[in-house]
Amino acid sequence: MIREMIAPRTNWREDCEAIGFSYHSIDGTYWDETRCYRFTADEIDTLEAATAELHARCLDAVEHIVTRSRFDALAIPPAWRDRVARSWRAKELSLFGRFDFAYDGNGSPKLLEYNADTPTALLEASVAQWRWLEQKIRPADPDADQFNSLHEKLIASWRAFAVTWSAGTPVHFTCVADSVEDCGNLDYLRDEANFRSVRNYFCLPYSTALMFDNLMDLSHADFLHKGLISEGMGEKTRATMTTTDEGDCVRVRWVLRDALPSPTFAKVWKFGPLTDHYRETHFTPPGILRVDLAAVDAGRRQNEGVRLIVTHCVTPETETSLHEFTLRSRNFALADAKVDAHFIEQQRKVILEEDGWMLTAIQQRMNEPGFAQEPMLFNVDTGAVKVRRVMERLIAAEAG
Ligand SMILES: [Fe+2]
Repeated sequence: MIREMIAPRTNWREDCEAIGFSYHSIDGTYWDETRCYRFTADEIDTLEAATAELHARCLDAVEHIVTRSRFDALAIPPAWRDRVARSWRAKELSLFGRFDFAYDGNGSPKLLEYNADTPTALLEASVAQWRWLEQKIRPADPDADQFNSLHEKLIASWRAFAVTWSAGTPVHFTCVADSVEDCGNLDYLRDEANFRSVRNYFCLPYSTALMFDNLMDLSHADFLHKGLISEGMGEKTRATMTTTDEGDCVRVRWVLRDALPSPTFAKVWKFGPLTDHYRETHFTPPGILRVDLAAVDAGRRQNEGVRLIVTHCVTPETETSLHEFTLRSRNFALADAKVDAHFIEQQRKVILEEDGWMLTAIQQRMNEPGFAQEPMLFNVDTGAVKVRRVMERLIAAEAG
């Protein structure tokens, strides 16, 4: 970990305010970009591992407190104890928390506190920092990354909530109304929740592994899904692709610049002649795959266009059939039922008509003599191969 002195952006105040971070100078100096910290990937892994471990231990503590009625130890008022216990037993989802660590890059991070109740610094750590990175660091170092994926994970958490809630469930937000910082964090959370989702369900006649192969490598869209989710010009095939592992999770990120507008959005959103496309596919075992799509007019920032997050929850029915529950969440045309219908029909055609015949044929051929046992692999298959390896490892571990 290296602490660096760095010149602040000349327009940093305006840029912070443009995203609602109006409290950048609260109590004098708060947001200070005259210094920054550069981490190695190993150091980030150490911090992430410590975070995951401590969060798991905190959940163990909740289990202990609920099952042994030790609410006194946490000063939980009697009127709330039943409610806490009910929520815990129902496995209700939680949204986010913030660990504060002392860490200098050497040894283990030391826990200072866990803000699981009123975690602030949300907008700063997710969007404000990302914009600074894009404007200040990435022009000279395009591979530099932000070590947290807070923004993406928050959106994913809201999607997880949406899967479990019935349609139209209201969400209540509360904060200290005269605290500008509290309001800023809340507005950000509310924006992230503000997606409209449509659901779908399919029972499909091929294996879960084939389904994930298909979803992890969307280069086939250029050939199979022309007119529906690809403009059919080989555009997706030329995208820049990076694949990363995060524990058992696999993430594939595609960036495609100056491309024709994808039919995924073009029928429901007006673009200029060329667009930049972003796609991030994120697999979480054993059966959740999220495809996060964004499209903007070429040259604009990623968050200035439209976004569609498709969550696939897949569970095997037999070795050669599966149930798939999907959620398609968008941040535009929030009240337009025609756009709902567009996405439902688009997905039905992609999955049942176009993927359907291909994957069913592969499934059948796999059982015939002469089927290639060692398929030829290309760079675009990296994510799918990693998913297969993770699943094989987890199945072997479960079998003991
Ligand atoms: Fe497909």
